[in-house]
Amino acid sequence: MSDRYIDFANSSIGHRLVGAIGLPSPVRLERWQAGRLRPVDGALLLGGGALAAKVGGFASKLTDAVFGYGTGPWEANPWIPGQGPKLKAVVFDASELLHTDQLKQLREFFQPLLRSLGPSAHIVILGRAPDTQRDPFAASAQRALEGFSRSLAKELRNGGTLQLLYIDEGADDQLEGALRFFLSPKSAFISGQVLRLRPCATQVADWTRPLAGRKALVTGAARGIGASIAETLARDGAEVILLDVPPAKNDLEALAARLGGRSIALDICAADAATQLIEHLPDGVDIVVHNAGITRDKTLANMTPEFWDAVLAVNLNAPQVLTKALLDSGTLRDNGRVILLASISGIAGNRGQTNYAASKAGLIGLAQAWAPLLGERGISINAVAPGFIETQMTAHIPFALREAGRRMSSLGQGGLPQDVAEAVAWLGQPGSGAVSGQALRVCGQSVLGA
Ligand SMILES: NC(=O)c1ccc[n+]([C@@H]2O[C@H](COP(=O)([O-])OP(=O)(O)OC[C@H]3O[C@@H](n4cnc5c(N)ncnc54)[C@H](O)[C@@H]3O)[C@@H](O)[C@H]2O)c1
Repeated sequence: MSDRYIDFANSSIGHRLVGAIGLPSPVRLERWQAGRLRPVDGALLLGGGALAAKVGGFASKLTDAVFGYGTGPWEANPWIPGQGPKLKAVVFDASELLHTDQLKQLREFFQPLLRSLGPSAHIVILGRAPDTQRDPFAASAQRALEGFSRSLAKELRNGGTLQLLYIDEGADDQLEGALRFFLSPKSAFISGQVLRLRPCATQVADWTRPLAGRKALVTGAARGIGASIAETLARDGAEVILLDVPPAKNDLEALAARLGGRSIALDICAADAATQLIEHLPDGVDIVVHNAGITRDKTLANMTPEFWDAVLAVNLNAPQVLTKALLDSGTLRDNGRVILLASISGIAGNRGQTNYAASKAGLIGLAQAWAPLLGERGISINAVAPGFIETQMTAHIPFALREAGRRMSSLGQGGLPQDVAEAVAWLGQPGSGAVSGQALRVCGQSVLGA
């Protein structure tokens, strides 16, 4: 469903009217286009500590315009506020800010450049996870980065985004993959997120096809977000296996044929679903995306047992049972990637969605609990929590609620299925084993559960 308000707000009359009466003014976000090669289309600015110098080592692969600002150990052209080019991407290493006094470096670095950000600019701040710091003051300073990052993300205009990445010792070699995602339009609808990267033994071999040689299963792939995930994984080189309910067989087969993949018509809640799935995957699978999901909304006072059971069965029980079966049978290979489609409802709660929010929160809990165990086999498991995404599911929401869902975020609009798909594709990459047991929100920094 298209968002007509964005078209209006970006028309010449609408732009003036919206500004004059103080209505939200969402911009059209820049998104990744097929055939593009460079993650950053414009100037990338580096600043801060030694991790920024590491980024400088591969920055020429991200863009051909790399600049440095402030004193630092990188080799790049100096950027001068008011004179340098508009910035498309910024990386600031704050990992060496270990005392309250040093936090002012955040203000000193960012304030002069905020008016020089180009449209849809992407900022990444690097730090060290507070629980890795022995000194409580250092831990406190690193935790302060979180409040700073989430707040500055809310102040960015013109489609700008900002994330905080905590980089563990030994995880530096996974910075390139993370920055290729978070500094590019692939992360257009992600902002205000905090993620931790740990060491990971596997690496992407070819950035033009980061999923080459990998087999990926996507449930609920006949339409909406699942179809977009399948397309994006195929674009990135994966061999895709699409699953959906038998009534969706025609759409599923058509999409699978277009993507050069296979299809499985199967209800994931069927009593023999695990056995059937394993039989369909004799050569194993590397990436499993549990995307199939349903809503049956009612306030708890009006919730029928059927509505409750159906949502918990599809959204939570099936991903648990199927993942365990794929693991126990050895079908999910070592260094595999499991991605669970949660929701910000599972983080913030949502009126009329006790069943849905319970199921989605349960998925986040599943990822957290399973990650350390699966890590022994190099397998990562994460949740992706979309906010308001323009699909058939959200097209059914009453108008006023739909408008509220779209506008109540830092980016002032709903996301597209492609935005969720790009996050899933990134988490599916060999190097993204650096991230596990975490929930990545794709919600434009929605005010819900922020
Ligand atoms: N659209 C949003 O704004 C939004 C927000 C947060 C989370 N999500 C989650 O993202 C996922 C995809 O959402 P969507 O908007 O594309 O939904 P959708 O309703 O458009 O598509 C869901 C797909 O899952 C399939 N499916 C449902 N039950 C199944 C079963 N038992 N077995 C096999 N397949 C089954 C459906 O046939 C359908 O093709 C869901 O898990 C949803 O909860 C969506």
